[in-house]
Amino acid sequence: MKILGIETSCDETSLAIVEARGEIRKPEFNIQKLLTASQIETHRPFGGVVPNLAKIEHANNLPLLFGKIFGISKFESLNPKQIQNSKNQPTKKPTNQKIDIVAVTVGPGLEPCLWQGIEFAKKIQNEHFPKAKIVPTNHLHGHMYSFLLPQKNLQSAICNLQFPAIQLLVSGGHTILIYMKSLTEYRKLGETRDDAAGEAFDKVARMLGLPYPGGPEIERLAKTKKPSNQKTITFPRPMLHDKNYDFSFSGLKTAVLYYLRDNPLTAKSYKLKALVAAAFQKAAIDVLVTKTLRAAKEYNAKSIILSGGVARNQALRSRLRQVSKVNGQMFISAPPKYQGDNAAMIAIAGYITYMKKKKYPQRANGSLDI
Ligand code: KG4
Ligand code: ZN
Repeated sequence: MKILGIETSCDETSLAIVEARGEIRKPEFNIQKLLTASQIETHRPFGGVVPNLAKIEHANNLPLLFGKIFGISKFESLNPKQIQNSKNQPTKKPTNQKIDIVAVTVGPGLEPCLWQGIEFAKKIQNEHFPKAKIVPTNHLHGHMYSFLLPQKNLQSAICNLQFPAIQLLVSGGHTILIYMKSLTEYRKLGETRDDAAGEAFDKVARMLGLPYPGGPEIERLAKTKKPSNQKTITFPRPMLHDKNYDFSFSGLKTAVLYYLRDNPLTAKSYKLKALVAAAFQKAAIDVLVTKTLRAAKEYNAKSIILSGGVARNQALRSRLRQVSKVNGQMFISAPPKYQGDNAAMIAIAGYITYMKKKKYPQRANGSLDI
């Protein structure tokens, strides 16, 4: 099957063509094309995503990406400027392409943005692929199944994956621990009660005067903390010892706020900033890793899966990989380039949704659950 994936839930406009084969227990995927237009530069001056601006960007980017994806063949990450410049490039009419499924994100996310993707899916299906089925797809399933995207050193993650597995899904909008009995049978064990992990990274970054998105900035700054700098700060690890699998990050964020109130930043506070970033990151990772391991132990997990935008964080990846190894569990995670929002993960989630015969309504649902 050939799947066209469409992702517009937040600040990335993304289209992908993915080939899928195999039964639902052992699907195989091949990414033919993936194009992502990031809106980071547009939203950066505002310190976060502005929904109406994002909606306009999606409306502009979708037809351009569509023209481009049927005209070029290699993976490309485009910024809006590059896309503007690409306007004049000739693109082949995609009429000779066969598409079986149009998988489009219907939620969760920003509803005005989701609608852009849904309306676009309907339009292109009508105009170019009348035989294709539109499969409304859950964005969280995209992250959840992203580890199935082809990886260099792991021929196909599914060949190695052993169940049961515990998955930690950490993004800008979600922090969820999932028990997976198989690829398609799963249940949520816990989630954040307030801020998502990525949201906490972004908010703390803003307190430190760092640009949006804050996660990569915090990580970069935390790395600069010199081991010779003996001074350390210890921030609280909320809900670490609670017996449930829920998370809370707002207390940690407030602790950083109070610390900075008592130790105000000046133009020369580079060391202090690095110290705060490192201490915050350590506290957040401690909670995420400890709870994931506890769930893995309780449910006798054979594998641990990490996904979502925050899974790009090297400190989190290597800590979870290390502890999984010690416990004899397999650690599986898509390469960082597939952890952020992208349409390839939506295409594979769409395939699994279709094979499972699960049907979501063809309308935006900002708070769709996993
Ligand atoms: O999954 P994603 O691309 O979008 C959502 O579905 O939310 O995740 C975006 C989030 C942002 O909060 C961003 O700051 C965070 O992922 N993030 C990181 C890193 N890279 C991205 N957080 C910590 N460390 C990183 N290296
Ligand atoms: Zn996402």
